[in-house]
Amino acid sequence: MALTSCSALLLFGATGDLSRRMLLPSLFALHEDDLIAPDLRIVGTARSDLDDDGFRAFAKAALAEFLPADRQDPARLSGFLDRLHYQPLDASNIAGFAALAEKLGDISCGLAIFLSTAPALFEATIEGLRHAGLAHANVRIGLEKPLGHDLASSARINDAVAAGFAENAIFRIDHYLGKETVQNLMALRFGNMLFEPLWNAAHIDHVQITVSETVGLEGRKGFYDDTGALRDMVQNHMLQLLALTAMEPPCDYDATSIRDEKVKLLRALRPVKSAEMVRGQYRSGAVAGAAVAGYPDDLGAESDTETFVAIKAHVDNWRWQGVPFYLRHGKRLAERRSEIVLQFKDVPHNIFADRGGRPRANRLVIRLQPEEYVRLQVMAKQPGLDRGGIVLSEVNLDLSLTTAFAKTRRRIAYERLLLDLIEGEQTLFVRRDEVEAQWRWIDAIRTVWDGGDEEVKPYAAGGWGPNAAIALTERDGRSWHD
Ligand code: BG6
Repeated sequence: MALTSCSALLLFGATGDLSRRMLLPSLFALHEDDLIAPDLRIVGTARSDLDDDGFRAFAKAALAEFLPADRQDPARLSGFLDRLHYQPLDASNIAGFAALAEKLGDISCGLAIFLSTAPALFEATIEGLRHAGLAHANVRIGLEKPLGHDLASSARINDAVAAGFAENAIFRIDHYLGKETVQNLMALRFGNMLFEPLWNAAHIDHVQITVSETVGLEGRKGFYDDTGALRDMVQNHMLQLLALTAMEPPCDYDATSIRDEKVKLLRALRPVKSAEMVRGQYRSGAVAGAAVAGYPDDLGAESDTETFVAIKAHVDNWRWQGVPFYLRHGKRLAERRSEIVLQFKDVPHNIFADRGGRPRANRLVIRLQPEEYVRLQVMAKQPGLDRGGIVLSEVNLDLSLTTAFAKTRRRIAYERLLLDLIEGEQTLFVRRDEVEAQWRWIDAIRTVWDGGDEEVKPYAAGGWGPNAAIALTERDGRSWHD
């Protein structure tokens, strides 16, 4: 794998919330661990009228707030701040880009750009970059979501970016792919002989993917109300989890092989019928022992935007014929949890039946966050002389990744993604055809919603969503893994 670093990293949206919370702390971590070249310059740009010192003060405050106390080493911090530079820019005005290019200076070893601005500015930004000679073969560009709100708008954004950059220079971010536990899905599936022979419709009854959150609107009123849970989380993160869980084994661990398999899987998703989905919106309730308001109060208006969605999906290929994939995501739910559950089928014949033993089907639980573990639930006989019958109980074969890798610091997803962008490694970024397959499936769901009269169902904050979501699995004789 030939990776090449660059002369500079250019951050658009450098004074935004993502920059404060994630990008600057991640870049500091890369600096702290000597993972980026000592002469790599980081140039921030945004509308705010700051100079280098002003941006360094902004970054210092962000790091003081978001870095753990034991990593606030003054010498390291000051070395990092010295890398930072700033150029104010109104991206909608092409005239400012020449000064930006001048600020960047010599980029003969390449430039990595990270765009975390409103998508409405993408087109103008690409145009400005081209105008200033900053879109050429030695420049790569990372794009933060949201990339559109449907297939047509995402195609427009992708076309605008393609006018300046080749696909192998475009790095579309889905921060879930930067999570260690998400990458570990591939290690689990393809680094072990144990699972793959069973990973199909012959042995698996159904799959559940849950990404539940306890947070509510978090001050993102306008964005969230225009977006909703389906576009905010299912279109990207959950479909990527589904693709990594269900795709065929790639022949290599590289960007083309893995993304080829994901896109094949995404294209095999069957359009969802009205009876196979549930939309909900949270109302007041209690989360983690504290009373919280409902969505209309958080928003300050009535709205029919969904904050919860549950879907029964199907993958139309040989491996998964007849296996439902239940997806569930919501805000203000009982707990924060991202998890994939593979529910195996029952044993074909119960030899313990005459002795009262009742085996339960095995289940593989892959917990991605906040805990990190893989848990296989298997049956065992309860110790004893069995005179009253054989009692079978479920026990867990537990692999705690937190314990197994206790000495390794967990990195936030953006550390990995920013380093990959700087070095030009595309495996953990989403290719255009993947994004488009994801949107095609989501657009079809929205068409069904818009054409039907199913309303958005209220649910109490602190629970597991509307009752209809529980019914979605129970109708099939199954239940959510809570
Ligand atoms: C973002 C969504 O992409 O992911 C947010 O816009 C959501 O609404 C967040 O809260 C969840 O990310 P994580 O890493 O906390 O699971």
